[in-house]
Amino acid sequence: MKFEIKVYPDPVLRKKAEDVREINDEIIEILDIMKDMMYSYKGIGLAAEQIGLTKKLVVIDLMPDGKSELMQLINPEIIESEGIYEEHEEGCLSVPGYYDVVRNRKKGVKVKYIDRDGNDRVIETDDFISVVLQHEIDHLNGTLFVDRLSPIRRNVFKKEWKKIQKERQEAQ
Ligand code: NI
Repeated sequence: MKFEIKVYPDPVLRKKAEDVREINDEIIEILDIMKDMMYSYKGIGLAAEQIGLTKKLVVIDLMPDGKSELMQLINPEIIESEGIYEEHEEGCLSVPGYYDVVRNRKKGVKVKYIDRDGNDRVIETDDFISVVLQHEIDHLNGTLFVDRLSPIRRNVFKKEWKKIQKERQEAQ
C-alpha cells in the first residue's frame, strides 16, 4: 500500500471516520504505515484521514526526552474532560508550514480506545498529550485545528495559507 499525507483543503480531511470493527492484518499494516509516516515527517501525531483513510486510527509519539513512546489508538473517544488551556500553539502535517494558537482546548481528558492487541484501554491525562489527543480525535470528526482559531486568526490563516501554497508551487 502506498500513501501520501493529505494536505488542506483535501476533502478527505472533512470526512467522519468509521469505527474499526475488527483488528485484522490490514488494520495492523495501516497502523505500522502511519507510524512510519509520522516519524519520517517528524510529526508527533497522525490520524488515518491524513493518509486518506476514513478509519478511526491514530498514532502518537511525543518522543519524551528523545525516546520513543508510541501509542497506537483504535476507535479513540473522549469520555470525560475538564478545565481549559486558554491558549495552545498547534501545527499539523496536513497544514504544513502553519502554526497558530488554538484557544479553549480542554486541559484534562480521559480517552478510551482499543490498542493494537485488541485490549480496551483508558488514558487519563492533563499533560501536553491531552492537547495532542484532542487534535487527533478532531481529525476523526473532520475537524482541523485551523477550524478552532478565533475569527481574526482564521483570516490571518487564510492569507498566510495562500502565501504558503504559492511558495510551495514555486519551489516545485
Ligand atoms: Ni493534525
